[in-house]
Amino acid sequence: MKLLSQLKWKRVLAVIAGLAVAGGVAAMTQDMSREAIAERIKPAAKVRIAGEATATAAAAQSGEARSGEQVYNQACGACHNGGLLGAPKINDAGDWEGRLSQGMDVLLEHSINGFNAMPPRGGCANCSDEEILAAIEYMISDL
Ligand code: HEC
Repeated sequence: MKLLSQLKWKRVLAVIAGLAVAGGVAAMTQDMSREAIAERIKPAAKVRIAGEATATAAAAQSGEARSGEQVYNQACGACHNGGLLGAPKINDAGDWEGRLSQGMDVLLEHSINGFNAMPPRGGCANCSDEEILAAIEYMISDL
């Protein structure tokens, strides 16, 4: 009787130990695969972030101003293409008539500092004053 119950206990312990080992292995392989995935996508993620940062930094540091067209397409077109929020549309004489009569200085000042729903620099924080001016000139170049 005593021997039998001892044997039973041994089996129970063996089963518990087996489960523990199996669980541990499962957890380990899961961890490893998660790490492995992270490790595998890391280079791509790095390249993408580096690529974007490089492009922006290159434009900002090259000292070469972006063209009015480039700035317009990047920062202004979203609103000024279709007149979003009441923005004067690109090369729409009717939209610009009254505004142009204020003079370029006022238009530039409004573009740099913001004007009602027009955000400062059109949201292009790293655009220089010259680049903003070029974008305005591009916007009215075909009037
Ligand atoms: C989020 C939308 C939005 C973006 C982006 C935007 N604008 Fe505007 N802009 C407006 C709106 C709206 C007005 C009209 C504001 C008003 O008259 O109340 C406006 C007006 C202007 C005016 C006329 C200001 C005046 O005194 O009449 C100029 C010039 C201008 N924007 C230039 C730019 C330039 C340059 C960019 C890009 C660098 C730009 N905007 C980006 C919405 C935008």
